[in-house]
Amino acid sequence: MVRVFSTTPRIVMGPGSVKTIGAEVKALGIKRVMIVTDKGVIAAGLMKPIEESLKASKIGYAVFDRVEPDPRYEIVADCVLAARNSHAQMLIGLGGGSPMDITKTSAVMLTNKGPIGAYFGINLIPKRGLPTILIPTTAGTGSEVTPVAILSDEGEKLKKGIVSPYLYPALAILDAELTAALPPHVTAATGMDALIHAVEAYTSVNATAITDMYCIKAIELLYGNIRTAYAKGDNLDARAAMMEGAMLAGIAFANAGVTAVHAFAYPIGAEFHIPHGIANTLMLPHVIRFNVLGNLEKFARLAGPFGIRADGLDALAAVDKVIAAIDRLVDDLRVPRHLADFKVKEKDIPMLAEGAMKVTRLLANNPRTLTLEDAKRIYRAAL
Ligand SMILES: [Fe+2]
Repeated sequence: MVRVFSTTPRIVMGPGSVKTIGAEVKALGIKRVMIVTDKGVIAAGLMKPIEESLKASKIGYAVFDRVEPDPRYEIVADCVLAARNSHAQMLIGLGGGSPMDITKTSAVMLTNKGPIGAYFGINLIPKRGLPTILIPTTAGTGSEVTPVAILSDEGEKLKKGIVSPYLYPALAILDAELTAALPPHVTAATGMDALIHAVEAYTSVNATAITDMYCIKAIELLYGNIRTAYAKGDNLDARAAMMEGAMLAGIAFANAGVTAVHAFAYPIGAEFHIPHGIANTLMLPHVIRFNVLGNLEKFARLAGPFGIRADGLDALAAVDKVIAAIDRLVDDLRVPRHLADFKVKEKDIPMLAEGAMKVTRLLANNPRTLTLEDAKRIYRAAL
């Protein structure tokens, strides 16, 4: 089996590192950029240090702030037009997964004819796009180190993925200060998403020794710090560990892929507008219970990075302890446990199961073969 490992070529990290952006842009020989973000990021004052740094380095900039949560792919056309009008040579994505994914997609749409619908899928983009810099303001998606962009298709009520090496940014800047003011429920949802990336990449059929290494460190950092970041948001050490963990998890799943948890989360996210990290968390224990048989040894080895003493335990008992640790964590973070908490009903299950089965890009990575009947059973367990 041929395997490839790739990632973002340059990662600048540390509290305050966002102030290097002017120098970084200048070093690339670029004179004019457009920042792609959303109104929440601007209201939180996170753009200020970036603007100051760009001004100090005499870099001209425009701002596109119309990214919405779970962005519709139509936003890309608006962003491309704004970038053309501003003569930007580079796009800077600032925010959570949505601004970063709109940045990545718009950058390639500036050099490719489209239509965008032709690029949903794997490796369908013909040409390299404009260069990008990605600056996450949550510790979750890992989008700064993945060749993936996820956009909503409102018509089909589905989230769709574009996967292409041209979506990697020229560089990523990870500044934990940008996450210090995130409210606890966002810290919980985004942090759980990152933790799930690492768990899924570790148990994916495409895992390699390289991705395993990233997953284990990511789980240690994320599981070890998420409670502190949730309970004491201004603890910068915990925030920096979360950001690094989310990035490592991103590197892992960019190469090994995520599995059925994400496939099951997409239809409930699209249909019931449940935030991505919460949708994943709702499905996680139920998918693990199903998937365990596909790779018992690997699931049991999760005990280590979760800090669980498993010596003397058989593999199934170790997995039970991992699931118990996840359940306890979900309670501590006050994330709802049931789909019914979001008004999902028994009658919705066939439609959701059919939606999940369409996410073949992710189900191909799943450690256990899954049928439509299995999918219904898993959703029912999560109800
Ligand atoms: Fe995710």
